[in-house]
Order: sequence, then structure tokens, then C-alpha cells
Amino acid sequence: MSETFLQMSHITKRFPGVLALSNVSFNLRPGEVHALLGENGAGKSTLMKILSGVYQPDEGEITFEGNPVSFADPLSAQRAGITIIHQEFNLFPDLTVEENIFIGREFCKNNRWRLDDKSQRQAVVDILKQLNLSVSPQTRVADLTVAQQQMVEIAKAISVNAKVLIMDEPTAALTESEIESLFAVTRLLKARGTGIVYISHRLEELALIADRATVMRDGQYIATVDYELVQISELIAMMVGRDLGNIYPKRAPQTRRQPVLEVKGLQRKDVLHDISFTLHRGEILGLAGLMGAGRTELGRALFGADPIDGGSVVLNGQPVVIKNVSDAISRGISYLTEDRKKEGLALGLSVEANIMLGNYPEFSTPLGNVNEKACQQTSSELVKTLRIKTPHLQQAALNLSGGNQQKIIIARWVCKDTDILIFDEPTRGIDVGAKLEIYELMNRLVAKGKSIIMISSELPEVLGMCDRILVMRGGRITGEMNADTATQEKIMQYATLED
Ligand SMILES: Nc1ncnc2c1ncn2[C@@H]1O[C@H](COP(=O)(O)OP(=O)(O)OP(=O)(O)O)[C@@H](O)[C@H]1O
Ligand SMILES: [Mg+2]
Repeated sequence: MSETFLQMSHITKRFPGVLALSNVSFNLRPGEVHALLGENGAGKSTLMKILSGVYQPDEGEITFEGNPVSFADPLSAQRAGITIIHQEFNLFPDLTVEENIFIGREFCKNNRWRLDDKSQRQAVVDILKQLNLSVSPQTRVADLTVAQQQMVEIAKAISVNAKVLIMDEPTAALTESEIESLFAVTRLLKARGTGIVYISHRLEELALIADRATVMRDGQYIATVDYELVQISELIAMMVGRDLGNIYPKRAPQTRRQPVLEVKGLQRKDVLHDISFTLHRGEILGLAGLMGAGRTELGRALFGADPIDGGSVVLNGQPVVIKNVSDAISRGISYLTEDRKKEGLALGLSVEANIMLGNYPEFSTPLGNVNEKACQQTSSELVKTLRIKTPHLQQAALNLSGGNQQKIIIARWVCKDTDILIFDEPTRGIDVGAKLEIYELMNRLVAKGKSIIMISSELPEVLGMCDRILVMRGGRITGEMNADTATQEKIMQYATLED
């Protein structure tokens, strides 16, 4: 009934030991935003990598604008008008924003040998403006934040005027206002007739932009629905194939208030100002705020990753000076960074080796012999708890889906068994089912007497999980509230408070 201009039919794709896609069909209309949903490892990225020429299907066909097509490589797909923004960034960190956007397609003057710097610069400036991205075209990409790097990926895709644009979790690292700019651009592209495939785990956000959704589970096609006509709970049920119940599992309210970490007047020049708060035993303390509010900076300062200029820290009643990261770890503080790429997943190593990385001392005899059985048992338990989708513990991390790679890093930190855990955006890029597992894991940790500081940009998650919430803005704490009296509006108010 509609003008399907792109159709993927009966696509099957096998990797050694894994049936990644089994007889999957998918169609896209021009000018629509089509959400592709499914749990970590469901096959979303693989399906889109086939569409964009990264992988070849074992079975199945693709028709585009009425003709059967097959793309031997990403460049052929791009020439046909199909562009993908990968879940994993593809930027050159040492090149500038402008060089990254136009790499291989530099503007040339008529004689074709001299670069037309001026028009190229103008084109970049225009795109950055469309995206509301206030960075200079000459900035080195390595110097940008994760969010800004993501926006550069998007700028790059916009600059080629694709007919089909695939965005694999484009907002996972973006803030509210950046997401708004992205959506504005998406609507613009939609109006121009671009067909957009949009992979995301943020179902609420998709309601603002998606026309239809296709749900996948375990490499299979489940259904395609109109976004307007479907309830989020129905989508979740289709994705996970079971009823999840309350996504924010309840735990017993805290009764005893024993301080474990007391921070007073913490300062870091231009970044953190007069930060004071107390973290109690068995508490989940939320750190809310907009991007750039200083939440990650605070986490890093507490963890000894950045030096501080003033203030005091009292740990279990003892004044301490945390000099560096290993000092923090030995004092029982761990920090799961938001930038899990940089944190160093050793892609070539196995799932088990990656979980154990940095944890071997705890699994060794005094003479330094690694207790392999204990390592295997612990990683196997964590793989189960976090539902890491892998055929076995020896699978190379490289072969896991993006979300499952993230879960490995979480497993690595949980394995450390420290008393204070700082989680920076722990559920970013992670599917609903696994989110629930992570929440349950957090509950188990605090029930054991551990304390958690959770930095999160997802307000429902902050409200659903934390006992207390601190709101930051401009490197200061601007508000504090108990979870039972907190609302999204109140948090936003403190987060945007003028000085
Ligand atoms: N190159 C590969 N070699 C072996 N297995 C792979 C490879 N690429 C993907 N897989 C497996 O195929 C399955 C589907 O992975 P895919 O990356 O498509 O999932 P996804 O739906 O994008 O998940 P996520 O939400 O975590 O990004 C997973 O089980 C994954 O481990
Ligand atoms: Mg993926």
C-alpha cells in the first residue's frame, strides 16, 4: 500500500558459533524514521551492517528503489546513497573536525588539484550550525567530548546527502539539548525524503521521532508496528519476550545512616566549586544535572583521576588524601567511567580475560599464581547475572555486540568488590532487560552494605533507583532532595538554575 523504496528480505547471517540473523525482513519508506529495536545482541547492528555493505548476508536479498542490489563494501553502499553512523565511532582522533567530515571528499577548485579551503570551511560551518554544535572546525577530534564526537559523526553523514541514513544509537552519549538538535536535523532530513533507520534503547525518546518500529529478538524478526499505535510496555514485551514487571525494582528503605564518605568544600579550579555532601552505607546517591554540570569531574576527583585544589575527604571516619587512581582503589573506591571505549576493552582478548583485567591480584595466591578456576567461575557468574550474550567465555570481545561489550566493563568493576562504587551512566546503550539486571545488581550491592554514587542523565532512572539525589550545575551542587519528594521538574529546575 505504501511506496517501499527499500526492502530487505529473508536475511540470514552466521558467525562462527552464532546465528546472528535468521530469516529477517525489514522495509523502509522514504521520509520515515524507522526505529529498530531489540535487546543487546538481537542483531540490529548486524542487519544494518549488511544494508550498508560492511557484511555480506549468507542468504536473502535487498531491493533498493525497485532494483536488486548487493553492496560489496561500505563505499558502494554510500555511492548508492546509503550511509551509516556506527555505534562505535569511526573518527580519526588526530584530525580536525573539518578534516573528519570531509575526509576523502575534500572540496577542490576547478583545476581539481588545489583544495577549495574557503567553500569547504563554509560548508562545515553551515553543518555545525544546523546541529547547534559550538566547536571550531579546526578543533582536533581527540579534544572533543564523547557527545561532541558523536555530533561530528552526524555532521559527516549529513554532509553526504544520503537517501538512507542509518543511525546506530546516535543519542547514547548525547544530552537533552544535543538530542533536541539531533531531532531537529532528523526532521529536516525526513522532510527532504531521507529514509532514516534509528537504533536506540531509549523508547520514550523514540516516541518523539519514530514513525514505525521493527522489533527483533535473538536474531529473528518479531513485528513491525506504527509507533503511534503501540504502548511502550508492548514494545518491551516484544523485545524481551517476557513480562519484566516493575523496571525499577524496589528495595528496603535505608534505616541506619552511617556515613562512609564525607566530602567538604571540594575545589578544582574552574571545574568544581565548594562541593560538600555525605554518602551513607547502603545508599544509592544520585548525581543529576545537565551535560557539563561537573558530575563526571566530581566522580573523577573522588576517584583520584584528577587532582583537587582544596577541600577535605573523610572515609569511614578517617581524613584521607586520595592521590591517584590506585590509591582510590586500594581504599575501596571504584569508578565506572562514562567513556567505556577509552576505558580499554581489549578487543582481541576473551570475555573472561576482559572481565579479569586488572583483577588478577585478587584471584592469585601470595606467590602470584592465578587461580584459574576462581577466575572462570566468577566471570561465568557475572556473564549470567548481567546476561552477557556470548557463546562462551573464550569468545573475543571484538565479536560481541556493542551493549554486551559495555556489560563486560561493568562486570570488571563489580568484580573488584569495593565498598564505594561510582557508576557514571551505567545503563547507557544497554537494553531494558539488562538495565533491570543492572538495577537488581545495584540493589544487591547496597543490601550487602556497599554504597553507590550513580551519575545518570536519565531522570526516570535517577528517580526510580536513588535514595537521595544531588543536582549539579556549573560545578556546584545546586539542590539536594530525597527520592520520595523529588520530581523531574524539580531536578530540572535545580539543573538549570541561574547563579
Ligand atoms: N563479527 C562477529 N563475529 C562473531 N559474532 C558476532 C559478530 N558480530 C556480531 N556477532 C554476534 O551477533 C549477534 C548480534 O550482534 P549485533 O551487534 O547485531 O547486536 P545488536 O542488536 O546490535 O546489539 P546491541 O544493542 O548490544 O548493540 C551477537 O550475538 C553478537 O555477539
Ligand atoms: Mg548494536
